[in-house]
Amino acid sequence: MLPKVVVYNSVSVDGAIKDFDVDIALHYEVAGAIGAQAMLAGSDTAKSGIEIFMKTVPAEQPSDFVKPVIKEDNNRPYWAIADSRAKLRGLLHVYRQSGYGKDVIILVSSTTPKGYLEYLKERNYDYIVAGSDHVDYRAALEELNTRYGISTIVTDTGGVLASVLLEQGLVNEIQLFVAPQIVGKKAVSLFRSLNQPLKLRLTRTKKVKGHALLVYEVR
Ligand SMILES: NC(=O)c1ccc[n+]([C@@H]2O[C@H](COP(=O)([O-])OP(=O)(O)OC[C@H]3O[C@@H](n4cnc5c(N)ncnc54)[C@H](OP(=O)(O)O)[C@@H]3O)[C@@H](O)[C@H]2O)c1
Repeated sequence: MLPKVVVYNSVSVDGAIKDFDVDIALHYEVAGAIGAQAMLAGSDTAKSGIEIFMKTVPAEQPSDFVKPVIKEDNNRPYWAIADSRAKLRGLLHVYRQSGYGKDVIILVSSTTPKGYLEYLKERNYDYIVAGSDHVDYRAALEELNTRYGISTIVTDTGGVLASVLLEQGLVNEIQLFVAPQIVGKKAVSLFRSLNQPLKLRLTRTKKVKGHALLVYEVR
């Protein structure tokens, strides 16, 4: 079964995904209310997250090679991170250490460098091989459902991956968390790489601490 996929983003009033002040705690609080069992991040988002929030990458510790024990009362989502190009080699322990997710599951393809798969195996990261170039998301999402019982997944990406998911007909819902700010000329728009127009249905709106949450069903 395919999980329900919710594209969730903080955006400015002019639809930008960066270059404005994101209230990151509030962003994840609202994301948490979606109740997803996994957060799907693109490799560029995962890498930029480390660059934005950490001055230096901490050295790996022996404990980073050990799969965390997941207690029964751990209701945090998994991180599912797409990384067919091995961009996160040497960095994944930052996500494992963060404690925000149960653990990290990496999505790769059959052309992902073998050395990266060795890196993942040595550190006991689960990974899913799907697709022959980039990740085949339909297959990967099915596998996340089968192997981990994930029935709802929320994206944590900057739009490129969200557009791929939309084009492949895999998105059920879009949630935009609109911050009361305008970026202006240099705005990088969320769906800048989407090749086709889409019609949506507004299903819910909510005011949250000066922000607007807009929920759309994808038709
Ligand atoms: N405002 C927000 O809510 C928010 C949230 C997250 C991030 N951000 C910002 O967004 C920026 C990064 O976002 P981004 O959109 O550039 O990157 P992204 O969403 O991380 O997308 C890159 C991912 O898309 C995959 N991909 C690219 N082309 C593909 C294709 N043709 N088929 C399948 N998969 C494909 C890549 O997969 P491979 O691994 O296979 O190459 C990669 O994992 C950063 O500046 C970050 O700070 C904003």
